[in-house]
Amino acid sequence: MDYKTNGMPFRRLGPSGLRVPLFSLGGWLTIGQTVVGDPVKEIIRTAFKNGINMIDTAEVYANGKSEAEIGRVIKELGIRRSDLIITTKIYWGVRQGSPNDTGLSRKHIVEGIKESLSRLKMDYVDVVFAHRPDSTVPMEEVVRAFNYVIQQGWAFYWATSEWSAREIEEAHHVASKFGLIGPIAEQCEHNMFHRERPEKEYKPIYEKYGTGTTVFSALAGGLLTGKYNDGIPEGSRFATHSWMKNTVQKLQQQEGQEKIRKIRELSKLAKEEFNTTPGALALAWVAKSPNTSTVILGASTPQQVLDNLKALELLPKLTPGIMDQIEKILNNKPKPEAGRITD
Ligand SMILES: NC(=O)c1ccc[n+]([C@@H]2O[C@H](COP(=O)([O-])OP(=O)(O)OC[C@H]3O[C@@H](n4cnc5c(N)ncnc54)[C@H](OP(=O)(O)O)[C@@H]3O)[C@@H](O)[C@H]2O)c1
Repeated sequence: MDYKTNGMPFRRLGPSGLRVPLFSLGGWLTIGQTVVGDPVKEIIRTAFKNGINMIDTAEVYANGKSEAEIGRVIKELGIRRSDLIITTKIYWGVRQGSPNDTGLSRKHIVEGIKESLSRLKMDYVDVVFAHRPDSTVPMEEVVRAFNYVIQQGWAFYWATSEWSAREIEEAHHVASKFGLIGPIAEQCEHNMFHRERPEKEYKPIYEKYGTGTTVFSALAGGLLTGKYNDGIPEGSRFATHSWMKNTVQKLQQQEGQEKIRKIRELSKLAKEEFNTTPGALALAWVAKSPNTSTVILGASTPQQVLDNLKALELLPKLTPGIMDQIEKILNNKPKPEAGRITD
């Protein structure tokens, strides 16, 4: 299969020269877990045909099966490796036997990426992420280990996920002190109900280091599609995964009911103004942020990929007036730091 952008916009991933599609595809809870075999192929084929040439996974997703399925399907579809951007994440490992099976020691980073590449059946990933910070390992060891991975040609860039602004700052200090490569991006949660960290805490990091973001859970796990407004549909993420019990319980409480009220208002706005869905609106809203490099879509069917890509048509229609209307509905804009001049 040859790649064609098919109208997909590309943005640079942070300060790097790597161009990433505004929408990418992720494999958490789906690929290798709820979706296996031919259906994985159909999701990836649909995404690729529609301009999504970036796939995000992690060693821990489905205990390595996500990487294995992605590797298998890419081979079967005959997609050229250079047409793809593959990202994986190291931290949790696939075994919890020895204390070094997880974390960000040089040992686990090096062994972890080697195992990931073997599951993916690839010589390299484009970006390797530290899936979480590890306060038990000296930052110099972490930065040096990711630089070693890059020097070996196992990854072109390294990045962080769910690190605090202070930890990202420390990584940059260490990198600059020793003339090493710093992280280019942060993989963070950003959606209409989760805003403080990506919109406020990271602001100085965007300004100082040009950090990019590969955003996850832009639909809050599906909540922002409106599919949970009237209960928990069978087969949905909230119904399938037992550890979602807490999320489901919270939905019944006042805070959850308030979210559903807002989703109903967003649905009305999406329908009346654009004849579209709240999901497309929620995705376009995240993509609109200049600090978003790519929005990683989660999808359990090819149709969800297509539905979610409707966000692309909507993006240019999100005028300042519409953004204000959304802001009024959400009523959760992070307050600027005291004494900080903001736009
Ligand atoms: N770095 C990290 O710590 C981290 C954490 C989380 C995720 N991620 C990455 O980000 C990716 C996306 O995260 P996410 O899966 O949480 O994203 P999300 O977009 O918030 O949720 C995706 C889920 O919502 C449902 N959905 C999606 N589109 C839909 C549609 N059009 N209609 C109805 N339901 C729809 C599907 O679940 P069902 O059909 O099963 O209901 C789908 O699996 C992951 O795959 C992973 O690569 C990274």
